[in-house]
Amino acid sequence: MQGSRATSAIATRYVAGETAEQGVGRASELLRDKGLRSSLFYLGEYVDKPGLVEQNLAAKIEVAGLLERAGLDVHVSVDPTQIGFMLDPGWARRNAFAIAEVIAGATAGRAAVHALMLDMEDSSVVDATIGLHDALDDARLPVAVTLQAYLHRTEADLRLLIKRGSRVRLVKGAFAAGADVAFVGLSEIKTNSRRLIDLMLSREARDAGFYPIVATHDERLHAHAIERAQKCGWQPGEYEFEMLLGVRGDLAARLAAGGQRIRLYVPFGRDWWPHAVRRIGENPANAWLLARSLADF
Ligand code: FDA
Repeated sequence: MQGSRATSAIATRYVAGETAEQGVGRASELLRDKGLRSSLFYLGEYVDKPGLVEQNLAAKIEVAGLLERAGLDVHVSVDPTQIGFMLDPGWARRNAFAIAEVIAGATAGRAAVHALMLDMEDSSVVDATIGLHDALDDARLPVAVTLQAYLHRTEADLRLLIKRGSRVRLVKGAFAAGADVAFVGLSEIKTNSRRLIDLMLSREARDAGFYPIVATHDERLHAHAIERAQKCGWQPGEYEFEMLLGVRGDLAARLAAGGQRIRLYVPFGRDWWPHAVRRIGENPANAWLLARSLADF
């Protein structure tokens, strides 16, 4: 399917291309044409072959260099299981340090939002991912971490990260998780999202130097966050919203035009089909895209 020209409409919408150059090219266009920043993500998750880990590491390092040369935020999203966590957590840690050191070196002296953004995977890796964030942060490397509003533990994790003055991307959570560890109903998850946004955009968080990143396509949560930010003295640019490339582009453009700082998660790489199908599955209105590509195949 990935090789078929018939699927190119899907690929172009949700994925920036197969190469790091194409990823950075799309990021440059988004900034120039729409004022949207990017976080580049080389596709491929839960990797259990050393060769693929090395390939992922090389792609992350390559894209960091290209972002720097293009004068963009050197902002790279990484799943711990992409860089060896399933094979050897120590190796994954060394790889994360290697990427973060390249980002730190490439960006010294340039004011922008540079980060190795750690994505959050299933609940079995949350402790290790936060531990990795803390180790990178202790080494004063440019790091941020994703927390998931559906997990019961997230409020406690967030409170500690606020005290540290960290950078946290809040998402609802995309993995299967039972009621023992997670809120399972959508309305409960939204309620918890609002509670966590209130903490992220509190006066205490601002005083601690915390940087909130609210990653959602949920307009009500955007409105809630903006209201909370205004109430607690945050200026646009002291926090950001993040959305996925190809999803609610209208909303991203509107928020950016209103002065909000918006970042898009921009995936690239050969392994794009699972990512695109997930995005289509999230919105039944997109099903025609998939049906058309399959009919053409
Ligand atoms: P929600 O599903 O509540 O929908 C809100 C609105 O957006 C609805 O109107 C809906 O129709 C629309 N919408 C949503 N998806 C759409 C689509 N594909 N096409 C068109 N409309 C759509 N998860 C995780 O567990 N770990 C992680 O590291 C990350 N990282 C991450 C980064 C970024 C930048 C984002 C935006 C999201 C993630 N996620 C994630 C995924 C996240 O957990 C969640 O599953 C999705 O963002 C969906 O939840 P929302 O709050 O965005 O929208």
